[in-house]
Amino acid sequence: MGYLKEFFSRREDAAGRQEEKMREKNQEMAEVWSFYSSMKKPASQETIVAMLTEIQEIRGFISPECRALAAEAAGVKESVIDCIMKLYKSLKPAAYEHRITVCTGERCLSKENRKRQEERLENLKRRFGIQGVIPPEGALSADGTVLLETQNCLKHCRTAPNILLDGELTEYDSLPLFSAKDGNP
Ligand code: FES
Repeated sequence: MGYLKEFFSRREDAAGRQEEKMREKNQEMAEVWSFYSSMKKPASQETIVAMLTEIQEIRGFISPECRALAAEAAGVKESVIDCIMKLYKSLKPAAYEHRITVCTGERCLSKENRKRQEERLENLKRRFGIQGVIPPEGALSADGTVLLETQNCLKHCRTAPNILLDGELTEYDSLPLFSAKDGNP
């Protein structure tokens, strides 16, 4: 009996702590909305990035609901928030661990690079259980840990064909998440 009582009491404590954490986070979010909503509209890009960074620090990522609220607070369209999210690779639209960006710009898909780059993208999709065309906001791996996206020119055309891992140029062969058995074109 003593053991059961202690077990349930510990479970209640853990649930209580969890609730307290949630309340704190909600309070922090309310402060963020209130602060940024009171600023001059439309907000500058710098201000929007600061707001999104704060949201991410609290929530871990920026959900579609948060993006809509951020647009309202900043007095801009949601598409502006989406563009900024694309530009700042540290801003995460979901709770993934890594973001892989495959360039689909002209130089990376030139005659000499196209086959290699397209094969890389297909291999990555297969590796991460992603099917169909990658949407503009990117596609999450089956386990939700990786966001795979394409971008039209990463502004490093000299080293085409290019891939970014978490915003940094990387060699396809050294992608740590890629298993050699899947092939390295
Ligand atoms: S086209 Fe790929 S980096 Fe410019």
